[in-house]
Amino acid sequence: MTDWHAVTTLSDLRARKKKAVEVAGTAVALFYINDVVYALADTCIHEQRQLSKGALLFGKVICPGHQWKFDPETGEAEGQDGCQPTYAVKVDDDGMVHVSTARARADA
Ligand code: FES
Repeated sequence: MTDWHAVTTLSDLRARKKKAVEVAGTAVALFYINDVVYALADTCIHEQRQLSKGALLFGKVICPGHQWKFDPETGEAEGQDGCQPTYAVKVDDDGMVHVSTARARADA
């Protein structure tokens, strides 16, 4: 049984840079940074703001709530305790982006 879910196209994400999607009931924020697609939990671990409404700066995701800076690869918050969940991403040859909330990014 596969746990990959098609969520958007690479061309759409490339144009928008960030996008909120739902994957098997989980709110996920997608980011397109330096030609790589990242998926993090959309609900901030600090006070539940939406990371997908944040900014991208120098390769980091900036939460709109209190400007915590998250590493999109690891989910680590710079200078803070705690880690935003990250999820595995794969892009098909046809340009469809798939996310698995059952897999951490490192398992991809
Ligand atoms: S809600 Fe994200 S930094 Fe506070």
